Parts: sequence; structure tokens; C-alpha cells
Amino acid sequence: MVSKLKKAFVCNECGSDYPKWQGQCTDCNAWNTLTEIKLSSVSGKITRHQGFSGSSDSSINLLKDVQLEEVPRIRSGTSELDLVLGGGFVPGSCVLLGGEPGAGKSTMLLQTLCFMAKSHEALYVTGEESSQQVAMRAKRLELPTDQVQIMTETSVENICNVATEKKPKVLVIDSIQVVHLDDITSAPGSVSQVRESAAMLVRFAKQTNTILILVGHVTKDGTLAGPKVLEHMIDCSLMLEGRTDGQFRTLRGIKNRFGAVNELGVFAMTERGLKAVSNPSAIFLQRNEDLSSGSLVVVIWEGTRPMLVELQALVDESHIGNPRRVTVGLDHNRLSMLVAVLHRHGNILVGDQDIFINVVGGVKIMDTSADMALILSIISSFRDKPMPRNLVVFGEVGLSGEIRPVSNGQERLREAVKHGFTQAIIPSANIPKKPIQGLKVIGVKKISEALQALF
Ligand code: TYD
Ligand code: MG
Repeated sequence: MVSKLKKAFVCNECGSDYPKWQGQCTDCNAWNTLTEIKLSSVSGKITRHQGFSGSSDSSINLLKDVQLEEVPRIRSGTSELDLVLGGGFVPGSCVLLGGEPGAGKSTMLLQTLCFMAKSHEALYVTGEESSQQVAMRAKRLELPTDQVQIMTETSVENICNVATEKKPKVLVIDSIQVVHLDDITSAPGSVSQVRESAAMLVRFAKQTNTILILVGHVTKDGTLAGPKVLEHMIDCSLMLEGRTDGQFRTLRGIKNRFGAVNELGVFAMTERGLKAVSNPSAIFLQRNEDLSSGSLVVVIWEGTRPMLVELQALVDESHIGNPRRVTVGLDHNRLSMLVAVLHRHGNILVGDQDIFINVVGGVKIMDTSADMALILSIISSFRDKPMPRNLVVFGEVGLSGEIRPVSNGQERLREAVKHGFTQAIIPSANIPKKPIQGLKVIGVKKISEALQALF
């Protein structure tokens, strides 16, 4: 069969496509990001040969008349994964699991599949590892492998054909970067291959009500699969993060059509595979006996629960004209903003200092409740004055130096007390109505008040 080939140009950054090449993407304004891809008419080919029936109903209904069915969730066997998914997998949904090589994506999916295979037909397609490697890993992890079907294949057409025949309920593709469509000439992993392969697999999953899980590697600059072209096709995008030399991994939902995206799942990588950490609030707190300056514990809020993490700041006189601002686990721009606030409203000038910020344990802080703690730890390091060991801090800092309240203040304080903290500096609007036993709470309205209370 001679397939009809059409061309298009796709932006690697945002996934917009154009009929002609141009230097700048008019959607996201990135330069030189358009790559030529070849579109194929492969959908017709499979449907004709294999006839998996797609029910496309083009009649118009009133929204209120649409029949609602209770979607049953299929459990993944891991409480933390279910949490991030919003209660488990939805039949017919497409999930993209992203992460750096070595993060533990294959391990997580193998464990999940072995559990799910007990009650549902499951097929693991591996293009990166051989069947033996996967089997060896499963054996080492002592997983129940009797029901899991495995296939080493990289051709999307073949995968769809086999899946049409076997009708798995769960289909894992490890990974989307190694599979390819025969009609497209560019190399596996290129924008066109990734986009068209994913489109075909997603179409297959939707038409057959299969749960499709795609593994996607993250590129050096942290984007999924190079192009972000995948994200609009799939229902749920998860990111497995953490230092690969460390023990803990976090799983974050970036997009979820069936649940909230703010949940954070925490796992520990052990020699028996990934284990869910069901009470993760203080796992990242391992502080030395003698406390140095610049270290401070902040209570952040992740999804539906509080988490205690240690912030470390190192402020040191800069010997270069342009002082360095380095952050690990925190937004770089936020630091610049807070340094400016510190200057204007705390009268402390650190403009000629190198500032290094580290969030211990490879956690990434997304919420702004760490602002006040960040400022205090910078000053603590700048003046070389350690802060009390039993102190926790949270609160957002505004541009005029005001301390803004954060959500769930009470729960954050309670969690701190549970882990032995006895002092807290928090926004005054967050002061609990009833005092919490064993905790001295100092409420502040301005950054200057926080400085007064401590230094
Ligand atoms: P893997 O799942 O292969 O990562 P990915 O598919 O995301 O590239 O995990 C690889 C890492 O996990 C590897 O560095 C070794 C580690 N690991 C363990 O520590 N314990 C285990 O039981 C397994 C299976 C892997
Ligand atoms: Mg892998």
C-alpha cells in the first residue's frame, strides 16, 4: 500500500503546527524550534485491516441529557500512585509517565502491571530492555509474574495489531521514544515519530477502552519527550522526580483530566523496588546534631497534606562582578524577587553576595509558603547566626514586604508539633484561634517583624 504523506512543521516547545517553515513560533515565540514532520494516513490502514471499531457519535445532545456512567477506577496496587491518579486508573485513559533515565519508571510500571494483571489482562511492551532483563528484574523484586504478558516490539503498527488481537485492559509502552511508525522516515525519538506514534496509540486506546501507559524520557532541559507535543493528547501526565543517587522519588501530576493535579506521591527506592511512603511528612528531615547557620525547616503544603522540609542557604562574598544566585529545588526568579524585598523592606543588602539555596532531599518546592523561610535562612547565613533547632517557619512574602497568610495554617502547625517543633514564626493571619499545646507561635505582618523576632 502506498501511503499518502503530508508535511507539517511542529514547534518543539509548544507543539503548535504550521503548514510552512518559519523562524519563530508565533504561539510561544520560541526561535528555531520548528521541525518538519511527515504526517501519515496510518489510521485508515489499521482500521481497514483490523477493524477495531471506533464509535464516533456526531449527534447533538443537551449536556444535561448526556448519560453519566460511574467510571470504575482500577487500582494500581500502590496507594501513592492511586492518590496522584485521583483514585486509580480510568478505563480508556492515556497516562504519560515522565522522568529522567534511572528515575524508576520501568520499575514502577512493572510493579503496577504485576499487580493489575491479577484481575485484568495486562501487556507490557518493552522497546528498551529485553524480555530477559524485565523478567530478571521481576524475579529479583519477587513480583507475581504469571499473568503478565510481555512483548519486545518497537513498531507501533505491530503493537496495535497484537493488542487488537489480545485485547489487554492495560497496555504499557516503554518507551514512546523508541517506538516508530513505518510510514515515517525520521528516526525514533524525533518529533514526528513521537507525535504520530503517540497519536496512533492514543486513538487505539480510546477506541478499545484500553488503559494506555506511555513512558517518556525527560530531556536535559526538563521537558517531556523533547517536544511537548504529547501533553495535549493524553489524559494524565505524571512526572517521577528525585535525585537518582538518592533514596526518595516523588511523583507529581502535571495534568489530570480525572482528578486534581496537586497531589504529590512519595516513594522510596529500595532493593525490593519502589515502595510507597504513606506518611511522608517528615522523611526529608534528617538534620545533624550541630546546626549550622542558614538552615531552617519550612512546612509546605503538597496536595492534601503538609510536609516538613529543610531549606539551606549559603551566602558568601562574591569575587566576580555578577554575583551568583543558584537554587536547587526552588524557583530561581522567586529568589531574585525576595532578595529585592529584603533590600527594600528589611534594609539588608546582599547584592554583592553569592547566594546558594538548597532544598534538602531533592524535593521541589512549588508553593510560595517557603518565602519567609527563604529570607530568614539567607540572613541567618549572611550573619552566620544559626536559628533555633526547634523552629518552623512558613508564610508568603509580598512585594511590599508584607507577610501573607497561606492555606491550611492549623494543619501545618499540628504537623510541626507532631515532629517535635516548639516554635513557629507564621503570618499573623494564620494564628490559630485556640493555642496549640507545646507550640509557641509568633505571628508577623511584615518582614521586619520576623527579623526582629529572630535576630
Ligand atoms: P528504572 O526503573 O530502570 O529507571 P527508568 O526506567 O526510569 O530509567 O530504575 C533504574 C534505577 O533504579 C537504577 O538506577 C537502579 C534502581 N533500582 C533499585 O535501586 N532497586 C530496585 O529494586 C530496582 C529494580 C532498581
Ligand atoms: Mg526504563
